[in-house]
Amino acid sequence: MKIGIVSLGGESSLQLASACEKYFKKVDLLDIKNFEVHLTDGNVGVTYEKRDLEKYDCLYIRGSFRYALLQRSITRALHNKTYMPIEPSAFTIGHDKFLTLLELQKRKLPIPKTFYAASPKLAKKLLEKVNYPVILKVAKGTHGKGVMMADSLQSAKTILDMLDEFKEPFIIQEFVKTKKTSDIRVIVAGKKILAAYKRKAAVNEIRANVHLGGTRLVHDLSDEQKRLAIASARALGADICGVDILNAKNPSVIEVNLSPSLYTAKEITGRDVLKDVAKYLSKKTREFKEAKRKKRNGHSNGNGTKVITSDDLIYS
Ligand SMILES: Nc1ncnc2c1ncn2[C@@H]1O[C@H](COP(=O)(O)OP(=O)(O)O)[C@@H](O)[C@H]1O
Ligand SMILES: [Mg+2]
Repeated sequence: MKIGIVSLGGESSLQLASACEKYFKKVDLLDIKNFEVHLTDGNVGVTYEKRDLEKYDCLYIRGSFRYALLQRSITRALHNKTYMPIEPSAFTIGHDKFLTLLELQKRKLPIPKTFYAASPKLAKKLLEKVNYPVILKVAKGTHGKGVMMADSLQSAKTILDMLDEFKEPFIIQEFVKTKKTSDIRVIVAGKKILAAYKRKAAVNEIRANVHLGGTRLVHDLSDEQKRLAIASARALGADICGVDILNAKNPSVIEVNLSPSLYTAKEITGRDVLKDVAKYLSKKTREFKEAKRKKRNGHSNGNGTKVITSDDLIYS
């Protein structure tokens, strides 16, 4: 079996590639910046370094939100042809905090109360009704840099105007008081939790991100936290991801990360998360190939006669 790991070449992808050597015959690290998607003469084509992309049994696409359109296009183009752990739609939903929460809410998963308004004028009206402090955040920020806290309506309005000036869509969110100002990162693979750790914010900081001085500690998940992490991954259609949960009495999910740091999870928990992901990808790839083989051979009714199903009609 052949796997392609599509990424920006970060540490997790490099370490995952070497862990995959044991489970796949060929492992290629592919730079997302060298992909193209061509829509010509009725065809959808994917090229890598100017040549048609070779056939992979598994393509694991990682990388930043800046490549969301490309990630979605590649997965859509190769849908049903190759096993890919992340569904096409997840790349646009997962890279946008508001769309992620909308999807979770539709599945009745707990999230902080969140509002999105088309204009600053409408947003200011919303700010008159919420409790303080309140969180304002941008949809696509990372490392905590797009998250702001306002203690009062006056300060919230000034933040809002600044976001509008920079043409950033703004999300207004209930401030959730967490235990020791912390959140929990859970690495999920299908129905399994591979690792979990707590991130505690630095002194005088509400954001638990490590880039802002937060510290990380191993964390034992409660059953509810486990359920939330697995259900959130499912809601987005991501077989592998990192789910962020606010560590409060009633936990709520704030984010699903499609390209979580796997080596960090290994460093903190001591569990060989890279090996677990490699093993999971090979298992799912084998299952995918087997399902495709069965479909190709058709379903038999026991007399050796092929039975046509609605699936055959749609996808053949
Ligand atoms: N609604 C909230 N209530 C309390 N703390 C929050 C809330 N939203 C975010 N935070 C804090 O800010 C951090 C960063 O927020 P997050 O939405 O995950 O953005 P990013 O993608 O930049 O990490 C979280 O890890 C958490 O510590
Ligand atoms: Mg986060």
